[in-house]
Amino acid sequence: MIAERTKRAARPSLYEPVVARIRSVTKQTDSEMLFDIALPEGRPLGHQPGQFVQVLVPGVGECPISICTSPTRADSFGLCVRRVGDVTAHLHGLGAGDTVGIRGPLGRGFNLAEFIGRDVLIVAGGLGLAPVRSLIQYILDERANFGRFSLLYGARNPSELLFRADLVRWRERKDMNFHVTVDKPDDDWRGHSGVVTTLFRELPALDPSTRVVVVGPPVMFKFVVLEVLARRIPQKQLYCSLERRMKCGVGKCGHCQVNHVYVCMEGPVFTYGELKAIREAFE
Ligand SMILES: Cc1cc2nc3c(=O)[nH]c(=O)nc-3n(C[C@H](O)[C@H](O)[C@H](O)COP(=O)(O)OP(=O)(O)OC[C@H]3O[C@@H](n4cnc5c(N)ncnc54)[C@H](O)[C@@H]3O)c2cc1C
Ligand code: FES
Repeated sequence: MIAERTKRAARPSLYEPVVARIRSVTKQTDSEMLFDIALPEGRPLGHQPGQFVQVLVPGVGECPISICTSPTRADSFGLCVRRVGDVTAHLHGLGAGDTVGIRGPLGRGFNLAEFIGRDVLIVAGGLGLAPVRSLIQYILDERANFGRFSLLYGARNPSELLFRADLVRWRERKDMNFHVTVDKPDDDWRGHSGVVTTLFRELPALDPSTRVVVVGPPVMFKFVVLEVLARRIPQKQLYCSLERRMKCGVGKCGHCQVNHVYVCMEGPVFTYGELKAIREAFE
């Protein structure tokens, strides 16, 4: 089944970057910037929530970044970038009006048909909120097509919380069950403190058909998965997004290979059931 999806995703045009313009850059934290990017003539990117693009900074290099806005908000798209090395540092030096190369959308995102009509629970930790924000926006924009919607988000401390304007809006909505926590509160923090699994006690009982998405650092993933499985959610209804070093993004170089699987083509979104069959996926 994975191989079939891979064939469908392979398109030759994905080798050539399109020159795209940065419309705005917004500081999120000391390490993360949010880029709003438009393709020529406001062309939609045509992505699915959970997909990524390869961002090219000419003369420096390319890196994979998750698309953090929903396809329902189509005339531009968002990328939330953490500064870690060469390419991301150069990206952080760019501003409105500058251009970057974009290849994509790439990879396999969330299979929305599996989510429609169901209750959805999303659990995000740290930068893991970026890849799932596209799905969150999609669900909120198409709210009538989904059942109960819960979102749990955890960050190490208040200064690392991403998308603060979203957090305020989500807290005010009556049609979603949103809770946020920080591991280490500061003196000004008035919210919940503790690791993200402590938020599970705020949830209503989960219907067994609930679709659950977990994206965050490996240690968080491990403990959240235990909470979810303890609530009798089948492994095939539990989704996550896997990060691996990538070069080509289109199944040619093997950099992203885990066991027999090319994460750039067959992922980054996998069900927990699929991942368990891939030795090394959790390393
Ligand atoms: C599918 C996918 C989606 C991603 N989405 C995002 C996103 O939305 N926002 C974001 O900020 N980053 C995201 N990343 C990670 C991002 O691609 C890397 O941080 C980036 O490639 C680093 O490039 P660089 O040239 O700045 O750093 P480099 O100079 O290449 O590396 C600097 C340091 O970061 C480490 N590193 C590099 N890439 C990775 C990686 N993939 N995983 C773990 N460590 C890494 C290196 O080992 C090194 O220690 C994603 C990665 C993948 C595979
Ligand atoms: S990044 Fe080249 S094969 Fe996946």
